[in-house]
Amino acid sequence: MSTINIAIDGPAGAGKSTIAKMVSAKLGYIYVDTGALYRTIALYITENSIADDDIEASLKNADVSLKFIDGAQRVYLGDRDVSDLIRTPEISMAASRTSAIPAVRAYLYETQQKIARENNIIMDGRDIGTVILPNADVKIFLTASAEERANRRYKELAEKPDCPPYEDILKDIIQRDYQDTHRETAPLKQAEDAVLVDTTKLDLEQSAEEITRIIKEKLS
Ligand code: DC
Repeated sequence: MSTINIAIDGPAGAGKSTIAKMVSAKLGYIYVDTGALYRTIALYITENSIADDDIEASLKNADVSLKFIDGAQRVYLGDRDVSDLIRTPEISMAASRTSAIPAVRAYLYETQQKIARENNIIMDGRDIGTVILPNADVKIFLTASAEERANRRYKELAEKPDCPPYEDILKDIIQRDYQDTHRETAPLKQAEDAVLVDTTKLDLEQSAEEITRIIKEKLS
């Protein structure tokens, strides 16, 4: 029996993970956050101070894996759960840089395809609809203006100590967008058959509703 695969791609901060989680819960699919895989590789490279030239050879020792505990994804480096450690601005920027390395993308390719072969999933990332799951049943490209994405991130961080200024968050987002869309291997871009959803003027509920509607329509 073939599984149902839904691809959601888009830039950093468009709300992909929050919205994809809401929609997965509604539809009873597993939500797969592929950014966590790239972040874990970035953590591995950073923790072990691996030089750029040695990254490809070192990947065979990285041992990155995903587990789904009560439907929630956890990411492991060896037997260590690093799901929370990978959520720092430093690792965000390192992941954006190291994810441009073709050997890193090749290393994570099979991991992602295997999960999709074995489960009904909503998978979010940058190249899911274009490279990882070109035959996905539904493809969505989720975006919002850079200012609105920075604004949302700022509101999230405002409750925490050491919240960076809005301008720094916006600068980071613009830099990550540039890196993610201009890399040579699997750059962030909308697949030809993806439906564009712009959430600049939508709240989370409205965005999740719109995506659920598109998925139901495409699958019917
Ligand atoms: O979605 P995120 O912010 O957790 O992703 C972290 C970085 O990983 C992002 O800058 C780009 C990269 N990434 C990627 O290249 N391909 C994916 N499928 C997911 C993330």
